[in-house]
Amino acid sequence: MRSSPEPKVPYMPLLAIETTCDETAAAVITRSREVLSSVVASQEQLHARWRGVVPELASRAHVERIIPVIDEAVSRAGISKRDLEAVAVAVRPGLVGSLLVGLSAGKAIAAALRIPIVGYDHVLAHLYACRLAHGDALTYPCVGLVASGGHTSLFHVRAALDAERLGGTIDDAAGEAFDKAASLLGLGYPGGPEIERAAAGGNAKAHRLPRPLANDRNRLDMSFSGLKTALRYLVRPPGAPDDVPPPQGQKRADLAASFQQAVVDSILAKVELAVERTGCRSVIVGGGVAANTLLRESLEALGCRRRLQILIPPRVLCTDNAAMGAIGWERLERGDDDGLGLDVTPGTDRRRPDASHRPEVRSPKN
Ligand code: KG4
Ligand code: ZN
Repeated sequence: MRSSPEPKVPYMPLLAIETTCDETAAAVITRSREVLSSVVASQEQLHARWRGVVPELASRAHVERIIPVIDEAVSRAGISKRDLEAVAVAVRPGLVGSLLVGLSAGKAIAAALRIPIVGYDHVLAHLYACRLAHGDALTYPCVGLVASGGHTSLFHVRAALDAERLGGTIDDAAGEAFDKAASLLGLGYPGGPEIERAAAGGNAKAHRLPRPLANDRNRLDMSFSGLKTALRYLVRPPGAPDDVPPPQGQKRADLAASFQQAVVDSILAKVELAVERTGCRSVIVGGGVAANTLLRESLEALGCRRRLQILIPPRVLCTDNAAMGAIGWERLERGDDDGLGLDVTPGTDRRRPDASHRPEVRSPKN
């Protein structure tokens, strides 16, 4: 570790960098997990017309934004870069071109300042947001649910860095399903908040949509692609012309509400099963879909019914951010330093643009 003769601040904070998908984010976090600053530059507008993230556009935007975002985070924290003790970078999973931008910036800072650099897992970091929000109220082991645009998984979490995946989606992620449903209903991107808004005036019982695998008590897997197809047929029955305009008004509200209920029911069934299987009395939740009010309220209700502790971070810590990169401290505290040989591990489970809306853009292969 670097020894600084006269640190400007009485603590030496960590700089966390997050560029896994379409948010360029940086945060400064103290060893006691106090978030001194958290800056998120969203690329939503950039990708909106494709109704999904276009990898090439995402990495170019990260290149433009990463330095200003880091500078902003450092300045809002009231420190200078020389006051940093270490750098933590999300290195998996994600879009390779996006991940590399954050990693390169992190390495440059670590090299220039001669401080340690550690990589962290974005999905575990989503769960770690609960530690930031709830402090010592979070105790391990517990069940972890991550529901985002790229992931929907259940974990048996034994420690911040030790989570066993118990199951999860076998096709689309929950957030991806929200995004595709919004597109079918003629709503904007990202779809989750749009569906939530449209559903507010709708009747969730108006349409009986499927909850695939929800009643299968033998597995903790979920499936959302059949649900999306069912919605597609309600919007445009088989054989109807391609240019049927998206539904409007009450019809759209009812479809949005029915869809949202089906996603939440599917998730809830498996959270309950995971609790039974593991015997854990506590559930921690993370990811962009955890910003959904119906999901939050339904999980709280499950907690009351089954006497479980349910920990969900505030919405700003559910969607992608770098404050959750505080998980980097868990690695630093056990003496880890990945050094400048650190590399990215993109993985496979990330959201892609809906191909039907972007015929001239090829899907990424990863
Ligand atoms: O965690 P996140 O910001 O990025 C990924 O790691 O993927 O999650 C983004 C996803 C998007 O699919 C978005 O539609 C969904 O989270 N989302 C929501 C809500 N806010 C964001 N889904 C349902 N309801 C919301 N309020
Ligand atoms: Zn995420």
